Amino acid sequence: MSAIEKDALTGTDTTGHEWDGLKELNTPLPKWWLYVFFATIVFAAVYCVFYPALPLPGATGTTGWTARGAIAGQVAEERAKQEPMLARLRAATPAQIAADPALRAYALAGGRGVFNINCAGCHGAGGQGAAGGFPSLADDDWIWGGSLAAIQTTIQHGIRNAEDEEARVSMMPRFLADGVLTAAQVNDVAEHVLSLGNRATDAAAAGRGAALYAENCVACHGEAGQGNRELGAPRLTDQVWLYGGDKASVVRSISYARGGVMPPWGGRLDPAMVNMLTVYVHALGGGE
Ligand code: HEC
Ligand code: HEC
Repeated sequence: MSAIEKDALTGTDTTGHEWDGLKELNTPLPKWWLYVFFATIVFAAVYCVFYPALPLPGATGTTGWTARGAIAGQVAEERAKQEPMLARLRAATPAQIAADPALRAYALAGGRGVFNINCAGCHGAGGQGAAGGFPSLADDDWIWGGSLAAIQTTIQHGIRNAEDEEARVSMMPRFLADGVLTAAQVNDVAEHVLSLGNRATDAAAAGRGAALYAENCVACHGEAGQGNRELGAPRLTDQVWLYGGDKASVVRSISYARGGVMPPWGGRLDPAMVNMLTVYVHALGGGE
């Protein structure tokens, strides 16, 4: 420890600390820095009074402001902005929405969002469908119908579900499992089904299958395999298959039936959303 003195070179006081002849200067913090530092302390204290800062339950500060509440307010504000449009979409039929450019544009944009959240899991992001019975909604091959009204009914009530009494229903018999046909007969009728798309490999079996088809299948799938929308029976003459068009898949469909299920959306979604979805799906490419 040596005495506090002025450093000759800089004119600053020393602290009195000295190491092997090196003396430590006592350079004070700049005034502006100190004042800013004190100001931040004052600011923090004031902030703690007005805003939530203490990690205690219910410590919200005297203003009552919270980040959660602010977001809720913004969401409510956005909802309120959309409400007039949603009210119009609720009141209009899908046909009216499709005919009105402003409503249609809104429905297509909104419908895409609602579709991606609720439908894409089964039908694919662009409605392209998925293996295992989830039909493409973007083509012009419709099981239950591709008019706006038919699409709306499908979305509103769903298909073969237990939740909605007005769900679309129709059950193909389980021809092998329920003993209606033998395994050999199923093979023959499957060959006939393949022959409808010119893909049979066994002409004799396909010939025998034709009679079985006339007896057991025509009522739903039609004489030429053209399908029946009233019954949700798919067309068997094209290359579009819910469950696969190879022989093994067709045999399986006939033997055990499939009974695909789609949930109803009427009770889950705002009617405006159902209308938006209807217009969106109709516009995916195959609407009639
Ligand atoms: C859990 C899976 C699942 C979800 C989620 C789902 N669907 Fe489906 N959807 C199906 C199945 C399965 C079928 C075909 C049923 C059959 O065999 O007839 C179908 C059929 C349809 C059809 C009829 C297609 C036709 O060719 O007639 C439309 C339209 C449709 N869905 C729209 C939607 C929309 C819109 C949503 C979202 C709100 C949705 N689906 C959500 C499973 C689903
Ligand atoms: C009561 C009406 C009904 C009868 C009768 C019926 N089907 Fe079906 N069939 C359906 C329905 C509905 C589907 C849609 C699949 C499902 O059950 O989800 C279907 C689906 C199929 C499929 C699968 C199509 C695909 O795209 O993957 C094949 C193949 C088929 N039927 C063949 C037959 C044959 C062959 C017979 C006669 C032996 C027959 N069906 C009798 C209603 C019927």
